[in-house]
Amino acid sequence: MSSTAAAVAGAAYIVAALLFILSLAGLSKHETAKNGVRFGIIGMALALGATIWVSFQTENPSILGFGLLIAAIVVGAIIGLWRARVVEMTGMPELIALLHSFVGLAAVIVGWNGHLQPPHYTGALADIHHAEVFIGVFIGAVTFTGSIVAFGKLSGRMSSKPLMLPGKNVLNVGALVAFVALTVWYVITPSLVLLIVVTVLALALGWHLVASIGGGDMPVVVSMLNSYSGWAAAAAGFLLNNDLLIVTGALVGSSGAYLSYIMCKAMNRSFISVIAGGFGIAAPKKDGEEETGEHREVSVDDAAAMLKGASSVVITPGYGMAVAQAQYPVAELTQKLRDQGVDVRFGIHPVAGRLPGHMNVLLAEAKVPYDIVLEMDEINDDLAETDVVLVIGANDTINPAAAEDPSSPIAGMPVLRVWEAKNVIVFKRSMAAGYAGVQNPLFFRENASMLFGDAKARVEDILRAL
Ligand code: TAP
Repeated sequence: MSSTAAAVAGAAYIVAALLFILSLAGLSKHETAKNGVRFGIIGMALALGATIWVSFQTENPSILGFGLLIAAIVVGAIIGLWRARVVEMTGMPELIALLHSFVGLAAVIVGWNGHLQPPHYTGALADIHHAEVFIGVFIGAVTFTGSIVAFGKLSGRMSSKPLMLPGKNVLNVGALVAFVALTVWYVITPSLVLLIVVTVLALALGWHLVASIGGGDMPVVVSMLNSYSGWAAAAAGFLLNNDLLIVTGALVGSSGAYLSYIMCKAMNRSFISVIAGGFGIAAPKKDGEEETGEHREVSVDDAAAMLKGASSVVITPGYGMAVAQAQYPVAELTQKLRDQGVDVRFGIHPVAGRLPGHMNVLLAEAKVPYDIVLEMDEINDDLAETDVVLVIGANDTINPAAAEDPSSPIAGMPVLRVWEAKNVIVFKRSMAAGYAGVQNPLFFRENASMLFGDAKARVEDILRAL
């Protein structure tokens, strides 16, 4: 490649990297998020264009190679556009997990390619190359299987309960120690067998790390895998000698790590415990050990009468509202009650639903006024004074076990203290547990009653009865 071509590519990469930084900055606020996405798209188009152009600035450019590259981009873009258009909001987190797995797989393939095409140089530079191959394959394989398990758990194809293998922490630490020893060995004697061993080891470790995490900690796991996929891309960048891939990977890796840290703080979880596959987290209780009792049911007419007589109502929506698409009748019910002089507000848990801000997006879609949609910390102290709380398809985020039972797998997670209200009506279809697989003692409390059925249909029934 000529020095002019290298300089042009370098300049394009710097502009693309700046656009990615602007994109991340934009995505951090509601008002600037759309521009953030635009910067990301322009940066990525520039990066792709420059990479394609630069790869053909050789003495004998291959027409077949060019054709294959364009075909891969077109097929990838068509599939990407189609998935993005058809994905439901409730299916976003698992789609993101699947996309992370592709980054992990790409890093493994790039690493293997780096082994099969050994460098022409020797000495310290060759040692660095071998270390890059080994570390890249390891991070990529952990990301790949970890993301596949996350996809399985988020899409309901796998149980969300944590896998509790005997000696699971020893297994994880053993795998890390083996990885360090194998890396040293591979740098000294780069053999294919060692590469196969580390690939299998990392695939198993990624699987085990995420399988050991309980449903309540999945939001943190998704952002952690996002971070891993960034480091996997950066490792691939070192091998491909592509500065932009290194910068982009490091941006994704560090911002994902910081997001995981913030989420751990908000959820009162230990960051180390989560990235170490649930280190120190109690095993889930077996069926029969959980607090149960008699639950009460309420009829639509009685629920409507309770609402009519209330002066304050708080609605705490959860994943079930998204599944039922109940936000529109919920918005209508809110308006109707407000017209009758009832003070109606919403209490939003930071991880209600399946993606950050899930409930806020749904309520905004249904035109619920922003000023009555409050964060958990803003509403929690008012719940004891509230006449009626309507729990619309929420479960883990309103589970008293998190606050009261130190042996619960979700112990310590901050929750909406709806059980302190005078009356609680829970809209759900059955007595099934929430995403974390933990039974909810709220359902057996004196002040709580169940209104079974699809949330949308039941809210519409109440609207008619009012
Ligand atoms: P969940 O604990 O997931 O419970 C949702 C409840 O909705 C279920 O118990 C279900 O009970 C009910 N439901 C489902 N479909 C329904 C329908 N059509 N009509 C009425 N009810 C329906 O909800 P949550 O309180 O929002 O908690 C979120 C959970 O997801 C947390 O554990 C969180 O850690 C995890 N998570 C969150 C995220 C983010 S970032 N938000 C990402 C990944 C995981 P029935 O089956 O009995 O109806």
